[in-house]
Amino acid sequence: MIVGPLLENEKGCEAILRSLPEWFGIEESLTMYARDSSRLPSFGLELDTRLQGFITLLEHFPQAWEVHCIAVSADVRGEGVGTKLLDHAESWLADKGVKFLQIKTIASTSPDPHYAATREFYLNRGYDPVEVFPSLWSPTNPALQLVKYLGKS
Ligand SMILES: CC(C)(COP(=O)(O)OP(=O)(O)OC[C@H]1O[C@@H](n2cnc3c(N)ncnc32)[C@H](O)[C@@H]1OP(=O)(O)O)[C@@H](O)C(=O)NCCC(=O)NCCS
Repeated sequence: MIVGPLLENEKGCEAILRSLPEWFGIEESLTMYARDSSRLPSFGLELDTRLQGFITLLEHFPQAWEVHCIAVSADVRGEGVGTKLLDHAESWLADKGVKFLQIKTIASTSPDPHYAATREFYLNRGYDPVEVFPSLWSPTNPALQLVKYLGKS
């Protein structure tokens, strides 16, 4: 069952982020993402009351939003939870008239092997790479911006 956009399950989100140390290894960022899940519009996928994954969305302009964070518990990755959450978020945004949804992740100019799977996930869901920002986050974490058009035409 998908719950949201008021999630209010910081503890559940934190547990998911802690199961993914290869992606969320910076403590300060991890606690920020857990906190933001109850501050910003967020959806979670629950199975038998256990939170399996969540997505947090950030509004830049009424027609242009960003996936602030998406994470699926390590033990259920690759089972479709992330796709369901992203599909749901996209429909929710499209119904509000949102045209563009962007995502930033680590670019392929970084040697980090874990983010290759993350980029593949977004590319396979219709997100097009737009620009690499070499030092937006830090020189060792180049940011790739991807965008998907959510409008009807
Ligand atoms: C990226 C992420 C949100 C995707 O959610 P998910 O539930 O694992 O994804 P799905 O099961 O819906 O789809 C995963 C795709 O990878 C494939 N896959 C296979 N094994 C996998 C595994 N162990 N882990 C992840 N994906 C796997 C799936 O077959 C599917 O392939 P497709 O793109 O060709 O359809 C999730 O894996 C995750 O939390 N990753 C770590 C954190 C992260 O990268 N967050 C984003 C930071 S920018």
